Amino acid sequence: MKIVILCGGDSPERDVSLVSGEAVAKALSRKHRVFKLDPVEKNFAEKLISLKPDCVFIALHGGKGENGVIQGFLETLNIPYTGSGVSASAICMNKIITKKILCFHNIPTPDFLIVQPDSFPSLPFPFPCVVKPANLGSTIGISIVKNEREMKTAIKKAFKLDRNVFIEKFIKGKEITIGIIGNEKIEVLPPIEIRTRRKLYDYTAKYKKGGSVHIIPPEINKKLLDKAKEYATETYKALGCSGCARMEIIIQDNGKMFILDVNTIPGFTPVSLLPDAAAHAGISFEELCEKLITLGLERCGKN
Ligand SMILES: Nc1ncnc2c1ncn2[C@@H]1O[C@H](COP(=O)(O)OP(=O)(O)OP(=O)(O)O)[C@@H](O)[C@H]1O
Ligand SMILES: [Mg+2]
Repeated sequence: MKIVILCGGDSPERDVSLVSGEAVAKALSRKHRVFKLDPVEKNFAEKLISLKPDCVFIALHGGKGENGVIQGFLETLNIPYTGSGVSASAICMNKIITKKILCFHNIPTPDFLIVQPDSFPSLPFPFPCVVKPANLGSTIGISIVKNEREMKTAIKKAFKLDRNVFIEKFIKGKEITIGIIGNEKIEVLPPIEIRTRRKLYDYTAKYKKGGSVHIIPPEINKKLLDKAKEYATETYKALGCSGCARMEIIIQDNGKMFILDVNTIPGFTPVSLLPDAAAHAGISFEELCEKLITLGLERCGKN
């Protein structure tokens, strides 16, 4: 097949995307004719159309590559692509909408409050809490705040980055991530516990060597992990994800757990979580990339 890998882009996660794209290109080039293309390149659309790919592998993280815009563009061109479709991509990029859908389905997510611009709310839960822009990734604009003064500063900072801002209750606990692969039929990958000495599992923790460690299996009892897998599955289905996604979950000492975040285009770098989870399920990186293409073709009705 002829596969075009989209990587780079103009989001803050550009550098990670370039590494993901390179790894995917290497994996797929054994069996396919592979072309890498960066959406910020001059004449991107013309180049893509003239390549006439059988499938596009989207290795873009954040921004237009992950929020449904690129997906909609490919739909218009009738080109099959990997990962979630337009609506699931758009929904998962907006944390407020994601949380509203999770609440509707009774899937636990930390209590939250939507903040109106230029207003400083009284909180329905105690400090500390987390101020977040709704639409950004990579922990950009996120602040843990311990008092009203910090909260106000954090809200101002978040509104500079996004029109939609919310405050979330801080959950103390162990952080795990669960990857899922599939369309209607899904495979839940082994959970990974993420440990970092940093306050947040932020960009440095994720991508710098030694920034974090992956613990597989997590040091958490099996019953709780099974429950987390159930919630991850319900989340994937409620949000209409396809191809793959990676859910982030915090588990408190008392066993209560909360879905924190859903990533529809998780990293495909050598240190990324989804490929690591897949490897522990006996799925090599090459097989994972191949599966995502098959699932993309299936979702687009080309298989
Ligand atoms: N309510 C919370 N309670 C405790 N820790 C939190 C909370 N919200 C976020 N964090 C910490 O901050 C990190 C980043 O938060 P979140 O996943 O919401 O942001 P993000 O920008 O979408 O990150 P990414 O897209 O890189 O996954 C989490 O992985 C977690 O370590
Ligand atoms: Mg996250």
